[in-house]
Formats: sequence, C-alpha cells, structure tokens
Amino acid sequence: MTDGFYLSFRNIRKTFPGVLALDDVSLDINKGQIHALLGENGAGKSTLMNILYGLYHQDSGEIFLSGEKYEHNTPKNAIRHGIGMIHQHFMLIPNFTVLENIILGQPSPKPPSLEKEYFRNEILNVANKFGITVNLDLLVEEISVGMQQKIEILKALYKGAKLLILDEPTSVLTPQESQELFTMLTDLNEKGTTIIFISHKLKEVMQISDRISVLRDGKLIATVNKNETTPNELSRLMVGREITSQYVKSIKISGDDILVLENISLVDHHNHHRNLLNQVSFKVGQGEIVGIAGVDENGQKELAEIISGLRKPTSGKITMFGKDVTHCTTRQLIELGMSYIPADRRNQGLVMDFKVSENSILETHYQKPFTKGFSLQKKVIDQFANELIQEYDVRTPSINVPVKNLSGGNQQKVIIGREFMKKTHFLLVVQPTWGLDVGAIEYVHQKLIEAREKGVTILLISTDLEEVRKLSDRILVIYEGEIVGYAESTTDIEEIGLMMAGSHKQSKSV
Ligand SMILES: Nc1ncnc2c1ncn2[C@@H]1O[C@H](COP(=O)(O)OP(=O)(O)O)[C@@H](O)[C@H]1O
Ligand SMILES: [Mg+2]
Repeated sequence: MTDGFYLSFRNIRKTFPGVLALDDVSLDINKGQIHALLGENGAGKSTLMNILYGLYHQDSGEIFLSGEKYEHNTPKNAIRHGIGMIHQHFMLIPNFTVLENIILGQPSPKPPSLEKEYFRNEILNVANKFGITVNLDLLVEEISVGMQQKIEILKALYKGAKLLILDEPTSVLTPQESQELFTMLTDLNEKGTTIIFISHKLKEVMQISDRISVLRDGKLIATVNKNETTPNELSRLMVGREITSQYVKSIKISGDDILVLENISLVDHHNHHRNLLNQVSFKVGQGEIVGIAGVDENGQKELAEIISGLRKPTSGKITMFGKDVTHCTTRQLIELGMSYIPADRRNQGLVMDFKVSENSILETHYQKPFTKGFSLQKKVIDQFANELIQEYDVRTPSINVPVKNLSGGNQQKVIIGREFMKKTHFLLVVQPTWGLDVGAIEYVHQKLIEAREKGVTILLISTDLEEVRKLSDRILVIYEGEIVGYAESTTDIEEIGLMMAGSHKQSKSV
C-alpha cells in the first residue's frame, strides 16, 4: 500500500561489511513538497538516497514511485523516471564550459556542427522556465562553487528531473550562497518540483522544508510536519537525548602573546607562483580562543601546516611563547608545549596500522613515563590508553586493535583524547568536530572550553561558522590566503558570511 504517495520506501535494509546502514526504513514522500532528511553523520541519509538513485542496491525492501513498484534502480533508470541527484561533491569537469558540461553524454539529434547551438537553445529554455540565470560559455573552473551547484541543478532539470535530491548542498556554501540556494529551491518547488533535501543542520531544515524525516543509526525515527515541530524536538529526535550548549566566553586574558604571525606568505612554485598565503599577520593572546573562519580551501590547511612546523613559509616570521620558531620542527614545537589536531586525521594524526594504545602515545612515546631508559613501559602505556578510551568514549573492542578498524568518529576521538591529555600550552586545532555526531561534538566543544579555562591558548580553524562563533573570543576570516576581516562572536552571521565570500577584500587593499 502506498496510498497516493509520490515516492515510498518500504522496509529498506542495507548492510555494508560490519555496518547496518539502513534498518527497516519506511518513508513516504508527497508530490510537490520539500521533504528534509535530517540526521547526524553516518545516520544513513546518503545511503538511502543513493539506493533510490541506483548507486547502491538495497539488501531487501521495496521502492514505489507514483504507485508503481520501482525496480532495477540504476542512475540511468532514475533519470528516465525524472529523478535527479545533486551529490555532495560536484561532478563537473573544470576545463569544460558550462554548456559542454551540461550536454556531456546527451544524445544529439543534430549534426555535430549544429549541435552546440541546438543544445544552447534547449538549455536556455529550461533555464528561463525555472528562472535560472546562467552564462553557458564560462569555464566551470572560473565560476564559484555556488554557481557550480546551480549548474548541477540546471543539468538535472534539463534531463527532466521532477524529483530533485540534494545531499548536504549547503556544506560547500557561504551563508549568503545558502540563502540564494533556498530561494531557488523554493521557486523550483512552487513550479512543481518535488525536493528531497539532506542535511544535518536544524536551522536549514526548519527554514526550507514542509516535512521532515529524522534518521538515527540507520533507523527512521520520526516524520513530522515542519509547522508542528520545534528545533528542540528535532534535536532530541536526532540525538536521542536533550542537548544544551551555551558557553561562557573567556574572561581572564593576561595580554601575553602566545602566538604571533608576521607577514606569513606561502608561494606555490608548482602552480604559476600563486600565493597560497599572502601576508598573514595576527596574534593570539594567552588564554584566548581565536577562531579562523572561512570557506574550505582558502589557505586554512597551509596555515595550519606552517604554524605546526610541517611546512615552511616562503617569507615571514612566527613567534611562539616569545621565541622565534619560524624554522622549528614539529617535534621542537611539541616540546615547547604545542599540540596539533589536524583536519586530515587519517594521514597526519594517526598511524593506521598501529594499535589504539600505540596511537594514544604517538609523539610522546619517547618521554616519561612511557619510556624509562630505553624501554617502553607497556603497562603504563596500556593504562593510559584505557583511560583515554574510557574518558573520550572511544568505541573499540580493545586497545589492542589497529586504529584502522575503528570508525572515523572513533579515530577522531583517539586523537582528540591524546592531544587533550597532554600538558599543552598552545593548541592548534583544525576542524575538530568534522564527522562527529552531535553528542561527541558537544563533548569536544566542552573540552575546548575547559582547556581554555585552564589557561590553554587555542587557535581554532574551522569551516563550520556556527562552531567558530560558539567557541571563539575573537574571529578572523580567511579568504584566498589572506585575512580579510575581523569579527567578534556577536558579529552578525551575514556580515561574517560576506567576508567569507571575499566581498570585503577590495575595501581592505585600498
Ligand atoms: N560505501 C560504503 N562502504 C562501507 N560503509 C559505508 C559505505 N557508505 C556508507 N557506509 C556506512 O553506512 C553508514 C551510513 O552512512 P551514510 O549513509 O553515508 O550516512 P549519512 O549520509 O547520514 O552521513 C555509516 O556507518 C557509513 O560509515
Ligand atoms: Mg551523507
């Protein structure tokens, strides 16, 4: 029975090796609505939609589309049935034009010489119909991420999508671009397109959807009407318990500068001598949390690598604890009292083949109490590792399994626990909660605040603006390798968003 629903999932089950990704999920989508799929990382949202789109196949369960059983789910068949999917990572070819990207793989009814003009007209017709403004002749690499997403949507509409699935579409956008996307989606919806919107952000879901389904641990927890729910209820459904998070900002700042960057630049000699970082200067004072906000890939990674001693700047000077550390190695910085939690934990923070216990003392293994004379103290190490997994709620069968066997979230907890348990004076942390569930995020945030209360100075680099605003005493905004703006945690989100999009850059250089 699918009772006139446009799309129905019935008892969908999907396993991956060792993971029950979807557990008996049943869900109905109404025609013409915006339906949100809300859930934490790993809840099963993408898997469910990838099954519909035909990228995976369910182990059991059925799908009904317009009342008919929908079988043989493949992307080709999905498109034929009017289903379009916009993935988290776009699939456009950078050095092709927008037009070339949209017509890629389309059978042409015209001889090659007339093909482009034919397609151009067809696509512009669709764009006009849906009120989308595009320049078809720009190269994809020349246009903004927000524009690329628009092109992906236009491409799906051009292929005849009546149902549009967007998987975490705002994760790559600035707040302004997100609002533009919402306007566009509302408009498409008014013109008859059904939309499934995947997100883990409550605010967005409350803003845009008609109905909301919450997934948790592969189970469908509830489906509610937007008008009949509250952010609190949704948060509870998502996490399975109450969440409170309001922090007191720092009060005790001594005024000593712990970290000082002066005119740090980094030139990419492999790529037209492009400036990856350009004249970056700022200070972080004793006991402060300074946040660096910005859209991904604007120099954050390079900045972190330079501060942590993994990479040398082309020019400029770094002072840490009053000492010129521009040429120090990471180990020297660690000995001075720095801890570093990198964004790329799999490659930089852990040795995948080492046990959990071994990973819990990386970088400090040669120090007391883990080493006495020349021998590692296994008992001390094991005790330390057991405390770590207890305190940081690392889900692992034991401390003796290789860390590669743990889920991503649990690998992160190992690093975060290890770094937080050190005697740190300065903590450099990049994307500390990326990929963690809401409960673990709250825990990590609490730990950062606690560390700050104990006088640890923290530089927090994160693309999650909410996180930066929640934790930071002061905020710097990075754009294309430059610090383009300064803000307080109380600064309007719109204003920070404008800086993140680079729109303040001009005025600064004048
Ligand atoms: N290709 C895959 N191979 C193995 N496990 C996977 C794969 N895709 C997803 N999973 C697992 O399935 C679960 C659900 O993942 P996913 O659907 O991506 O969640 P969400 O999109 O809600 O973040 C997670 O535990 C994830 O690790
Ligand atoms: Mg996903």
